[in-house]
Amino acid sequence: MRVLFVSSEIYPLAKTGGLADVSAALPKALAALGVDMHLLLPGYPKAIESAASKSVAVDFADFMGAGPMRLISARTPDTGLPIWLVDCASLFRRSGGPYQDEEGRDWLDNAQRFALFSHVAARLSLGQLLENWHADLVHTNDWPAGLVPAILAEGQGQRPATVFTIHNLAYQGLFPADLYPQLGLPDATFNPDGLEFYGKISFLKAGIHYSDRLTTVSPTYAREILTAEYGCGLEGLLQRRAQDLIGILNGADYEIWDPTTDIHLPANFSLRNIAGKRACKTALQKELGLEADWEAALVVYISRITDQKMADVVAAALPELVEIGAQCALLGNGARHLEEQFELAACRYPRRIALRIGYEEPLAHRLLAGGDILLHPARFEPCGLTQLYAMRYGTLPVVRSTGGLCDTVVEASDGSLNRRPATGFTFESANGADMLRCLERALALYRQPLAWRKVQRQAMAQDFGWEDPARRYLALYQSLVPQPVATAKAVANDPISESAAQ
Ligand code: ADP
Ligand code: GLC
Repeated sequence: MRVLFVSSEIYPLAKTGGLADVSAALPKALAALGVDMHLLLPGYPKAIESAASKSVAVDFADFMGAGPMRLISARTPDTGLPIWLVDCASLFRRSGGPYQDEEGRDWLDNAQRFALFSHVAARLSLGQLLENWHADLVHTNDWPAGLVPAILAEGQGQRPATVFTIHNLAYQGLFPADLYPQLGLPDATFNPDGLEFYGKISFLKAGIHYSDRLTTVSPTYAREILTAEYGCGLEGLLQRRAQDLIGILNGADYEIWDPTTDIHLPANFSLRNIAGKRACKTALQKELGLEADWEAALVVYISRITDQKMADVVAAALPELVEIGAQCALLGNGARHLEEQFELAACRYPRRIALRIGYEEPLAHRLLAGGDILLHPARFEPCGLTQLYAMRYGTLPVVRSTGGLCDTVVEASDGSLNRRPATGFTFESANGADMLRCLERALALYRQPLAWRKVQRQAMAQDFGWEDPARRYLALYQSLVPQPVATAKAVANDPISESAAQ
């Protein structure tokens, strides 16, 4: 089965969050199960620079009025999977991030950028760009690739099956209607029973409306998005498509996120030999200018600084967190006004709160290893990956019970009725008081080393590897692309099997 996996972020070529981690690890796990996975990513300069074995697959004088463009064929630098990069100088060769400039402002031409990306994906999958390649199935992710299923569904003739994964319903790719003529879409798609969302173009709605199947990244979030509270206005459409929607919990790539082998740590450690974790904590306190206090519980927060991650609540709670005896190490970037609130708190408690505004992959690893507690609150959380990583590093997560956080963290308090082994701490309401009470429970357990060690061991022993989720995706792919059948007669009667058999 040939699958084109389309994403706007793939680690280590481009990353702003968990989408990149998933877009690297899931195709790797599916390839290990025998699926012929090919990736497609916009040709951001850093992505082109770090891709391996590059060659020009095809050159265009012009594509959709965006000027000259090339499709670069390459391999991912770490896993060696085949990848194509859409190298369009006018749209993708610029400094800044995938969606925003260096000042954090959305690129003004995002609609054109990701429409072109989606057209390339569709044509490639149909076999219109490369002579010897077409896809049996196209797996697209989040709004930047949302137009692909719409383009394919509205086209003529046979097309590949489509799967659309919602990683975050809150980012919808909404654009003014007057851009529509520039996007190369048929007129028929711009209506409420298509990709129009209250008079605007919605790339996300296109993905949800036109895909054969929908997935999202945890079972709880799959249920939540059918409600007005979490549905972001798309709950009606999602309810109508509920039969085609499943929640498959994300995994953690333990080749990257495992303290036993992590190359970014000053000392490695494991479930059986945890001594190195202490060395990681001491080194982290030194690196960040925190008091060299082994006894203090070190609370780490590694996050996009946004409302989703309750950054406003965290910033406001920092003084109290210090008052109850914790040290805090914070790494993140995002909304400037929230970054400023973090800066104020860090200035007030220089030896108890360390703050790094920015995006630093190796530091994220060192924080997970050197911390005692990961603070991961959220107003909503489709899955969340840092809590999975934290557990493997023996850093107990404090999370709000929502979305994937609900599905992955088991409360450790004595009164809890859970039959599964406890792995962290959970709270219900998205407010500072509840979050602080939960942190107090975590600190109380931290002061009982034997009890703490037990929960820590249980957390480290959890297996959130990609094997099981990848099998679920494979089963989904197989339900859409029947495998080659044995007899010639059966093949002749079934056009889908026929194309899969080629
Ligand atoms: P989301 O995708 O909503 O941001 P996830 O928990 O799924 O949340 O994934 C976040 C990913 O981004 C993790 O790999 C985390 O380590 C990483 N990350 C987030 N912020 C930073 C940062 N400032 N520096 C380094 N890594 C970060
Ligand atoms: C999104 C979500 C996050 C999820 C990630 C990967 O960014 O916010 O919860 O883990 O995608 O699926």
